[in-house]
Amino acid sequence: MRSNFGRKAVLVAALMASTSMAQAEDVEVLHWWTSGGEAAALNVLKEDLATKGIGWVDMPVAGGGGEAAMTTLRARVTAGDAPTAVQMLGFDITDWAVQGKLANLNDVAAAEGWDAVVPAALQAFSKHDGNWVAAPVNVHSTNWVWANKSILDELGIAQPTSWDEFVAAMQKVKDTGKTALAHGGQPWQEATMFDGVVLSVGGVEFYKKAFIDLDPAALGSDQMVEAFNRMATLRSFVDDNFSGRDWNLASAMVINNEAAFQIMGDWAKGEFLKAGKVPGTDFLCFRVPGSQGMVSFNSDQFAMFAQAEEGAQAAQGEMAKAIMSPTFQSAFNVVKGSVPSRTDVPNDAFDDCGKQGMAELSEASANGTLVGSIAHGHANVAAVKNAIYDVVTAQFNGEYDAATAAANLVSAVETAK
Ligand code: GAL
Repeated sequence: MRSNFGRKAVLVAALMASTSMAQAEDVEVLHWWTSGGEAAALNVLKEDLATKGIGWVDMPVAGGGGEAAMTTLRARVTAGDAPTAVQMLGFDITDWAVQGKLANLNDVAAAEGWDAVVPAALQAFSKHDGNWVAAPVNVHSTNWVWANKSILDELGIAQPTSWDEFVAAMQKVKDTGKTALAHGGQPWQEATMFDGVVLSVGGVEFYKKAFIDLDPAALGSDQMVEAFNRMATLRSFVDDNFSGRDWNLASAMVINNEAAFQIMGDWAKGEFLKAGKVPGTDFLCFRVPGSQGMVSFNSDQFAMFAQAEEGAQAAQGEMAKAIMSPTFQSAFNVVKGSVPSRTDVPNDAFDDCGKQGMAELSEASANGTLVGSIAHGHANVAAVKNAIYDVVTAQFNGEYDAATAAANLVSAVETAK
């Protein structure tokens, strides 16, 4: 038996260790990675940091797309209690940088050579005024379809390559009484489908004119009416219980043979993998038919909030360095469904969908067919993004027709920008 003195010594040592960890090495991380696949990927990060002696204080705020997380963040910053690191998308990063709330990561970025390996499309958000303020952990893209292979095989449906073939395939599924399109009725999910639909209608030129340049003529054009018509077509293929459903539950419908297709970013692949499903065998991944060769991307970055204490600053730097290491980028993105945020990571460890995603990202980047996701904050500031959400969701839910939606889009964007 250990003596009283011995027990006390162990306790004191443990206390000292935990205190010094808390002061010097903890990172508090605000994020919205709460689904099965997302949590599995987050664990890769937590465990990697643990091996470097960086403690993890978890601050999860559920809700795909991160709107709820951003609301919590605003409250925390207002209270003068910003977390150390925050999962963040696109223009939200710029917004916090403009407000002067983010840390400067230039030292670690220079030491690790980030400038040379992070694609310019990501640096546009990771840097502000020439200073690194965030570390990009991945690149997702939204114009993907996830399909149940056994349902397609049973019905003799080939992978659709055009919008019309896609509609015919969904009709065939619907005719059997099964759900053709698994969908969760939340504004960000409708907007995610809209990313791919807009590309399928008018390509990147139309996408950019309407959603990057916010050109009123493009926003109110016949092509936009057609995009909304396609959204109405998609609406006719979802089940009756779609309202409010979380995206991962929609993925589960495809995984569990209850539905044939889901249009969703490649974080959906994380759910399939978590369920033990294999691409090409159990499920198919392909671009929203009509948007082949184009990529609407969103990159999760960890924005670092300025910290007063040196220990916290050091932990931030260590975390950023760990996130950007090529081996971590491979290990993490294999699980998350995304692809690496640096161009020099080998694709060996990735499955076929991941290899396709990596190849298409670099091709799209070289060909000028890479665009920021409207739905995930890489095309516009939050106010404009939310205005677009409102119109897309209202029309999807039958509040008005396609022509009215296009007209409303023009005025909603005009007011928000
Ligand atoms: C996206 C994010 C992804 C994934 C998804 C659903 O905005 O970039 O990493 O988490 O939301 O939660």
